Amino acid sequence: MDGRRAEESIMSEKPLGVLVVEDNPGDARLIQEAFRENVQLKSRVEWVKTLSEASVRLGQAGVDVVLLDLSLPDSQGLETFKQVHGQVPEVPVVVLSGLDDETVAVKAVQEGAQDYIVKGQSPSADLVRAVRYAIERGHAQQALLLASIVEFSEDAIIGQSLEGIIHSWNRGAEKIYGHRACEVKGKPISILFTTGNYKNALALITRIRHGEPSINLDTNHLTKDGRSINVTLTISPIRNIGGQLTGVSMISRDTTERKQAEEVLERSRAQLRDLTARMEGIREEEKALIAREVHDELGQVLTGLKMDIAWLNKRLNRDRPEFAVKLQSMSGIVDGAVESVRKICTELRPGLLDDVGLSAAIEWQAQEFKERTGIQCVAILIPEVTSVDRNRSTTIFRIFQEALTNVARHAQATLVQVTLREDAGYFFMEVSDNGRGITDSQVSDPKAWGLIGMRERALIWAGELKISALPHKGTLVSLKIPRALEKKGELVK
Ligand SMILES: Nc1ncnc2c1ncn2[C@@H]1O[C@H](COP(=O)(O)OP(=O)(O)OP(=O)(O)O)[C@@H](O)[C@H]1O
Ligand SMILES: [Mg+2]
Repeated sequence: MDGRRAEESIMSEKPLGVLVVEDNPGDARLIQEAFRENVQLKSRVEWVKTLSEASVRLGQAGVDVVLLDLSLPDSQGLETFKQVHGQVPEVPVVVLSGLDDETVAVKAVQEGAQDYIVKGQSPSADLVRAVRYAIERGHAQQALLLASIVEFSEDAIIGQSLEGIIHSWNRGAEKIYGHRACEVKGKPISILFTTGNYKNALALITRIRHGEPSINLDTNHLTKDGRSINVTLTISPIRNIGGQLTGVSMISRDTTERKQAEEVLERSRAQLRDLTARMEGIREEEKALIAREVHDELGQVLTGLKMDIAWLNKRLNRDRPEFAVKLQSMSGIVDGAVESVRKICTELRPGLLDDVGLSAAIEWQAQEFKERTGIQCVAILIPEVTSVDRNRSTTIFRIFQEALTNVARHAQATLVQVTLREDAGYFFMEVSDNGRGITDSQVSDPKAWGLIGMRERALIWAGELKISALPHKGTLVSLKIPRALEKKGELVK
């Protein structure tokens, strides 16, 4: 706050709040009279007798200046000043001293008191003048303090006119941009901007002119040596005491390192996703391979066995019926083994997925689930979902299986419903159950590997998987996967 502002506050309609801390009623009365007599200065004088009362009063608003006797019933000497100044460092204090303790009063001034007055010596006009100066000095000190906060800030704090001409430039700005204050004052702010950005800068000033209270944005700036740096800007109006817009302040923070770190992180995330995708692909391929091997090798062996049993059966000695029974049983066992092989192969790689597509495979899995667990499983499949490619089908199908496993293991449900549809370039799958419902902490548990796996499978395709409790009962797993991946402007199928 400058001198004019201080003068203005003294002259303004609001009376000056004066707190007199003085245990001697005679002295207090004299001070009160001095203010009452002064017609130029509107004041409201309050009087307390002890430090503790003063402390209570200072805890509330409305005190502009303190007149402080250092010898109080509950505090003595310099300590009295330290207590008051410590509580309200921004409020100017004028020490009231006796003739015999002037040295202490001088010490108080050295510690930050604005002035001291020797009681009984100064005429009342001097007292009031001392108070007015104390306030002005206090304001000037505040302004200096603010100026040094600005000057030593690590952020660049730059003042510019409404035409974009730089008029103040702190040390933070010197450090970030490399220009010294004397080199840039009077120059246009365009020196910080690349050509394209400069137009934006002028547009920003226009927005402030039209009354916007502040603007935050991330952009690029140029340093003195021509480097481009990432900065976060806050642009605000500068106004004079009358409230008129006189310029624009710009606080800028160099975020280049943070940006770079973010980019590195994003790259490594993308790599991780690619790796997961590759691993998933390999796993699925291996499963398919095992499924084929088991089917072909074991299948042939079992078929061979079956044929041999048939051969034996034909040539069997009819006198030994127990042989026929045994062969019958062996044939049954082989049939069971064939069925097991078929089942194992289907688990490893649901052939339906390759043969008839995702919808049919989901229907089959729903039916299987119902038979195995006794939990009703309804599939609502919108028929258009026919064009899912093989890899996305596998992802969706595996997520469905994982969701079903969770229902069977945790939900205590009697009904599961799965819907599959395609809309606006996305595949959607929702699996809901009517069980006990998942809790928020279970959803966000960093050790819920099943759930994490489901999310990661979705992420491979830049998809999204959400798991939540349903409002009334049960759990909902919802999946959204784009039909095609968008990569650097091109569509990747
Ligand atoms: N449909 C559901 N209904 C209620 N709770 C569920 C459901 N699905 C998951 N949960 C809860 O979320 C937890 C985390 O699931 P997650 O699949 O990650 O682990 P898990 O099934 O316990 O073990 P796994 O790693 O073998 O899958 C479960 O332990 C369970 O408490
Ligand atoms: Mg699980």
